[in-house]
This record gives sequence, structure tokens and C-alpha cells, in this order.
Amino acid sequence: MKKSILIITGCLISVFVFQAFTTSYQPRFTNLQILPKNISEDGLDSVMHHFTASLGVKCNYCHVRNDDTRKMDFAKDDKPEKQIARKMMLMTIDINKNHFQQIAESMDSGKMALPTTDTSSVSYMLKYVTCYTCHHGDPHPESKPPMKKMGENQPPMPPANSGNK
Ligand code: HEC
Ligand code: HEC
Repeated sequence: MKKSILIITGCLISVFVFQAFTTSYQPRFTNLQILPKNISEDGLDSVMHHFTASLGVKCNYCHVRNDDTRKMDFAKDDKPEKQIARKMMLMTIDINKNHFQQIAESMDSGKMALPTTDTSSVSYMLKYVTCYTCHHGDPHPESKPPMKKMGENQPPMPPANSGNK
């Protein structure tokens, strides 16, 4: 009798221990500093594909390959481009959150406004101003407008002496 109780409790304990190990929280991504740590795989994928499409680059523009395993080591921060990208993420979140949301609300009587409850950094990064707004498929966006050919789309010249009357 006593022996069977011992065996049953022993079994129960090993079940609990087994569960604790298998269901313990395993973060999928180990080095997220800006994106939510519990972001889904699909969510992370769509952010990364927004980056590659916006800058016209591949994953290895920001991420390094591990030569031993011959696989990409996405968690490593060895490329300066990845660090710059983090700063760009913070800047884009800041632009949307602190500069653009109110403008969007006033422009469109609230229709375009973000739901106020949704403050995740991902949604702020992918609204209004995004990586694509500036980059347009280029890691080095243009800072000067293209030169117009003479006479093309020029505003009409003001009449001479118009200010002197
Ligand atoms: C413009 C730079 C850039 C490009 C291009 C890019 N990534 Fe990233 N990636 C980042 C940054 C920055 C982070 C870290 C984000 C953070 O700290 O929240 C990251 C994080 C990740 C992570 C999470 C790693 C971890 O465990 O912390 C994965 C996986 C990943 N990227 C996959 C990809 C894939 C796949 C591609 C190509 C489709 C890609 N990335 C393209 C900048 C980039
Ligand atoms: C407000 C405009 C703007 C936005 C928005 C923006 N960027 Fe940039 N980004 C720039 C400018 C300007 C540079 C400097 C380009 C240069 O060096 O010629 C730059 C440079 C970079 C670089 C370094 C390029 C290099 O090789 O030197 C990366 C990487 C980058 N941006 C990623 C991003 C990502 C990812 C996002 C979205 C989260 C983003 N940027 C959003 C304007 C912007």
C-alpha cells in the first residue's frame, strides 16, 4: 500500500518536472531590443521583408553568416548596418508616434488614426512614415531633388519691376 502511493507520487512528480521543462517559455528570438520579444514568427518575417523591400537589399545587408554552421546568425549584431537599422527603427517610431499621429488625425478627422490602445512599436513603424517613405528601394536615399532641365516645369518669371510700383 505504502509502496504504491510512493510510486504514484513519484510518477506525478516526474510528469510535473517534464512539463516544466517542455512548456517553459522559450524565446524564439534572442536579441530583440526594439521589437516586442514575444512577436510571432509571421510578425517578424513581415517586418524583415519590409526592410529588404524598402532598402532594395537582401538579409545579409544587415545580418552575418556563421561560417562554421554555414547558416545565417540573425541574432548577432556584427554588422554596423544592423545597428543603424535599429536607430532608424527608433527614429521611424518616434516620427509616427510623436509627430505624425496628431497630424493624421487632424487631416482625416480621425479615420486614419491609429487605435490609441495599440502602442506596439511594430505598428508605429509601419504606419504613415515607413522605411520605404524615405528609402524607396535604396539604402542611401536621395537628399536633393533631381535637377530639372531648363524650361521644364519652371514657375513663370515674375514681371520685371513688379515690386517697384
Ligand atoms: C536593414 C537591416 C535588416 C535587414 C535587411 C534584415 N534585418 Fe533582420 N533584423 C534587423 C534588426 C535591426 C533586428 C533586431 C531588431 C530588434 O532589436 O528589435 C533584426 C532581427 C532579426 C531576427 C531576430 C534575431 C534574434 O534572435 O534576435 C531575425 C530572425 C531576422 N532579423 C531575420 C531576417 C531575415 C530572414 C531577413 C531577410 C528577409 C532580414 N532579417 C533582413 C535588421 C535587418
Ligand atoms: C526620414 C527618412 C528615413 C526613414 C523613415 C528611414 N531612413 Fe534609413 N536612412 C535615411 C538616410 C537619410 C540615411 C543615410 C543615407 C546615406 O548614408 O547616404 C539612412 C541610412 C540607413 C541605413 C544605412 C545605410 C548605409 O549602408 O550606410 C540603414 C541600414 C537604414 N537607413 C535602414 C532603415 C530602416 C530599416 C528604416 C525603417 C525602420 C529606415 N532606414 C527609415 C533616411 C531614413
